[in-house]
This record gives sequence, structure tokens and C-alpha cells, in this order.
Amino acid sequence: MAERTVERRPLVAGNWKMNLDHVEAIHLVQALALHLRAIEHGRLDVSIHPPFTDLRSVEGVIGADDLPITLGAQHASSYAAGAFTGEVSVAMLRRLGVQLVLVGHSERRQLFAMDDDAVAATTRAVLEGGLTPVICVGETQEQRDRGQMAEVLTAQVLAALEGVPAADSDRIIVAYEPIWAIGTGVAATEEDAQEACRLIRQVLAGARGEVADRIRILYGGSAKPENAGDLVTQADVDGLLVGGASLEAESFAAIVGATAACYGQ
Ligand code: PGA
Repeated sequence: MAERTVERRPLVAGNWKMNLDHVEAIHLVQALALHLRAIEHGRLDVSIHPPFTDLRSVEGVIGADDLPITLGAQHASSYAAGAFTGEVSVAMLRRLGVQLVLVGHSERRQLFAMDDDAVAATTRAVLEGGLTPVICVGETQEQRDRGQMAEVLTAQVLAALEGVPAADSDRIIVAYEPIWAIGTGVAATEEDAQEACRLIRQVLAGARGEVADRIRILYGGSAKPENAGDLVTQADVDGLLVGGASLEAESFAAIVGATAACYGQ
């Protein structure tokens, strides 16, 4: 197994997708806070990404108890303001204490026609607004079967970086989310996750140089307590983007615990 040569602060991010209203969200965050208390997680970041309508309530709970949880969103508009019905701007999210924004999740790409240009524009908007984009990339099963994984990931990563100033390169996070592993219960093996994350780092290095060593690359797709440890021990896997297993305090906290254990706590 490749050795981890550079220390990067791991991130365990919970993507709630379109689940839990704001009342349910408050309950989950409170339960999560209780579970996290038992885990020494001072050397890693934990974020949750609830639906927009929950953000205000969740911010309140996190703020009231100063919980060690970073607030994230699942999407943002690439526009600053104006006639964009249904959209939410980066500035609006920042006002709510949001620090991380998922950009180009495969569900946005596949179900809501978010193309590479929109991913790049959103990445730039998030950075300009002072927040951190978590750029999601990943191949379909068909692309993988056709041997196109490297080509697809390279194209998606380079497209997302389009127009991102060099000085902002180390402010991005990338999440490798193979589409065939999302919500299927079948995660990538740790070897496959490492291979893809290594490739992404090489693409980042080719485009942006040494800064690639500092950029965090997450794995996402059926991450759960049972496979979290094996995944995050990989040299180029700097954390996890968790969907289904982030909807229960116990399983999400167990994933945080498994990650913390790998980082020497
Ligand atoms: P999953 O989702 O963990 O339910 O597979 C991951 C994601 O889509 O971010």
C-alpha cells in the first residue's frame, strides 16, 4: 500500500440529500453531538450538508452548543443574485454560517443537467464568496467497464478548475464518487478508491503543481462504519463523503470514529 507522505486534515462529510425536515434535522444534530462526545476527533473535520430549509435551525443548534461540526450545503447558485427562481446564492449560505458547499454532485449532474461549465462557474462563485467547494467527480459503471475511468475523472477535474485562480487552488476539496457506488450498498474497494484518488491528485498536480499535495480528496459511495477504516487508511483518501449512513447519528459517528482511529487518535 502506498504510504501517506503528507499530512492532510481528514474530513468526514454527511450529505443528507433531500431527507429530514428542519425539526428532524435538529433531533439528528443533537443526537450526533452526543455520539461525537465519546470520540476524540480533534484532528479531523466533521461536516453535515442538510437541505437548504434546515440550515437556519441546524446553525442554531451548532452555534448554541459550539458543536465541533462544520455546516455545509449541497449546492449553490453560480449567480450572485437576481431572477433565478428556486436558486440560493453563496452569500445567502455564508450568512447562515455555511462553510462548505458540494459542487457538481452526480445527482445534480444527472438529474438536474448540471454540466461541466456550470460546475466550474459554481466552483468559482463558491470560492469568490469565501466558502470551500467540495467538487464531486466520478464515473458511471458503463464508463468504468469501457476503461474510461481515468479519462472521465481527468476531464471532470480539469473542467471544474477552469477559471479558478492559482491562489485559490488549495482552497478546494475534491470528492471521488463513483456513480455505481452511490446508494447501492456496494462501495469501491479500498484499492479502487486509492487508485482513483491517486489519479485525481496526479491530475491536480499536473494542473496546479505542488499544491496538489495539500488538497483533500474524499471518497464517497456507500461508505459505512464497516468500510470507513479501510478506505481512509489509503494514502490518497483524505476522508469520506457519506450519504445514507449520515442520516443516523450512530452510523455517522461510527464513521467519524473509524476515521479518527486511522489518524492516530
Ligand atoms: P451514499 O451517498 O453514501 O448513500 O452512497 C454518497 C453521496 O452521494 O454523497
